[in-house]
Amino acid sequence: MITLSRTGAAENVALITLNRPSALNALCRELMLELSENLLKVEKDQSYHVIVLTGSEKAFAAGADIKEMAKLEFADVFENDYFTNWDTLSHITKPVIAAVNGFALGGGTELALMCDIVYAGENAIFGQPEITIGTIPGLGGTQRWPRYVSKSVAMEICLSGDRLGAQEAKEDGLVSKVFPVQQLVGEAVLLADRIAKNSPLIVKTVKRSLNSAYQTSLNQGLEMEKQLFQSTFATNDRREGMSAFAEKRAPKWTSS
Ligand code: HXC
Repeated sequence: MITLSRTGAAENVALITLNRPSALNALCRELMLELSENLLKVEKDQSYHVIVLTGSEKAFAAGADIKEMAKLEFADVFENDYFTNWDTLSHITKPVIAAVNGFALGGGTELALMCDIVYAGENAIFGQPEITIGTIPGLGGTQRWPRYVSKSVAMEICLSGDRLGAQEAKEDGLVSKVFPVQQLVGEAVLLADRIAKNSPLIVKTVKRSLNSAYQTSLNQGLEMEKQLFQSTFATNDRREGMSAFAEKRAPKWTSS
């Protein structure tokens, strides 16, 4: 249900594809376990620098598998923690770019929100339809939407179940760029290549620092950024980057 392939100009981009076409990539337990395993594999493997997460041209993911969830009782989702490992994506330290074509509904939108950058195809449709089936977003929807767009938009999406097209999602700030459907994955890989040209160590540092903006006060975040900035001065890659600039040559990163 998941395919992992190596791509990018330097073959250091992991392309992870959700592949359950019979159910528009609905997120069942097995798919999410496989996704988690693949993400952890890529996270550990130093030869991968950036991850691109995508689905098919028709669906990124049509949400959690409603037919599977329909059988569950409170104890299954609470005591047995049905959704264990579903948030692995939010713990990955390498940059993750979502390339969203087609339906990204419910858990599908929430997966995209866990990624660092969201690129959308012109046919992308985002939304949190959980309210229409008697439940609420459970993978971060009510928490991440208001952090990434306005409260009014977040409330509208989560309370009504209305869908948001690619262009609207871009205007609201959820998506950074929109591309024709067939170009989307290629463009995401080109962006991954541009990120992967930088030191993996420093890239991870930027991601950590930027993410702290969503978790701390401004003062704590500024303090953390200052400390992380200072810590780059203890790295070989900071020395190499600045020397290479002065010597007018390309830097050779060692991630040390
Ligand atoms: C299970 C799903 C599914 C889903 C689609 N399918 N979405 N199966 N769970 N979420 C299945 C359909 O049953 C159908 O299977 C096949 O995929 C094709 O779907 P169709 O409905 O025939 O396609 P279409 O008419 O194009 O409509 C597409 C759609 C619609 C608009 C995306 O499928 C839809 O509304 N899906 C549900 C979206 C949703 O409510 N998602 C939120 C889920 S709750 P068959 O066998 O009939 O061909 C959630 C909670 C997250 O995500 C929290 C987790 C912690």
